[in-house]
Amino acid sequence: MNSGVNLINHKLSVAPMLDWTDKHCRYLHRLISKDVLLYSEMITTPAILQGDKQKYIGFNSQEHPVVLQLGGSDPGDLAKSCIIAQEFGYDEVNLNVGCPSDRVQKGRFGACLMNEPELVVNCIKSMLQSVDIPITVKCRIGVDDNTSYENLLAFIQHLDQAGLQTVIIHARIAILKGLSPKQNRTVPPLNYDFVYRIKKTLPHLNIVINGGIETVEQAQKHLKYVDGVMLGRAIWNNPWLLNDLGETLFDTHTQTTRDDVLKHYQNYCQQQLDDGVKLHWLLPPILNLFHGISGNKKWKNYLVTQAPLRKNDLSVFDEAREFVTLN
Ligand SMILES: Cc1cc2nc3c(=O)[nH]c(=O)nc-3n(C[C@H](O)[C@H](O)[C@H](O)COP(=O)(O)O)c2cc1C
Repeated sequence: MNSGVNLINHKLSVAPMLDWTDKHCRYLHRLISKDVLLYSEMITTPAILQGDKQKYIGFNSQEHPVVLQLGGSDPGDLAKSCIIAQEFGYDEVNLNVGCPSDRVQKGRFGACLMNEPELVVNCIKSMLQSVDIPITVKCRIGVDDNTSYENLLAFIQHLDQAGLQTVIIHARIAILKGLSPKQNRTVPPLNYDFVYRIKKTLPHLNIVINGGIETVEQAQKHLKYVDGVMLGRAIWNNPWLLNDLGETLFDTHTQTTRDDVLKHYQNYCQQQLDDGVKLHWLLPPILNLFHGISGNKKWKNYLVTQAPLRKNDLSVFDEAREFVTLN
């Protein structure tokens, strides 16, 4: 069924981040950049197949292009979840082969799948057969003592043979015993060279690099060796970096300002409040909008302390904005 042609632009993306890149966060990111590819948090196949679908995977039409990241390892369940994702209008489905959490290991998915390439191949084939939208994988460069370049290459070759065109590689290994997910994002050292070598050896694949990218200059450097860069924490900490990345990587010069973004996000919040969403869920993505600007700390502090007292009164944003001095 799948034509195999991936027309999605992977040059710049925001990483899937559990509890962070929900639909409100993605809405904000899209207000800042029209070029970036946005990923959902990881959603497990049981949540999609047995849970409240709208709650878990519903999104705003303005978010496109948007990718649903799945956690799972049952080829049948993954295929069914892909069909639902396609019906919901997602532009791509990504399989998580990089999460090291205990919960995920018990479910036999995430990073531990790097030790089971045949199972991953079955999953990919089943996903590709079920839908027309592109299927991609996000993995690590290795796991535990399975860390050689040869093993990584063999793993990616399996994905290639299964028909996959795009692989996002977090350039550190995952250590499944003894490190928390958070430590697994800092303790194992970054090894960008392995990712560059994969692109060199398999140039027909679309290779996206992830891990520790924090500046426009770093992104530009990586793009000399690979097809795309995926940034996670740096965008959460400073969402306006998306604007700077867009200007440099896509030569997009929007006239949009942080205040425009704030105004639009406020309107969005009003719609969400009218639909019964609590302000509490809408605040986190916008807290870092003024990162690096005088008054940022006071803006954040005011919102965090005052918004809960004010419940649904959005003028709290305007009051907090008074603390920020933009040139
Ligand atoms: C709070 C948080 C949640 C994350 N959740 C996911 C997830 O659901 N799926 C996934 O593939 N990676 C997840 N990650 C890992 C990121 O996608 C990314 O691979 C990692 O943070 C390294 O990129 P960075 O250095 O640009 O942040 C998460 C990271 C953070 C900080």
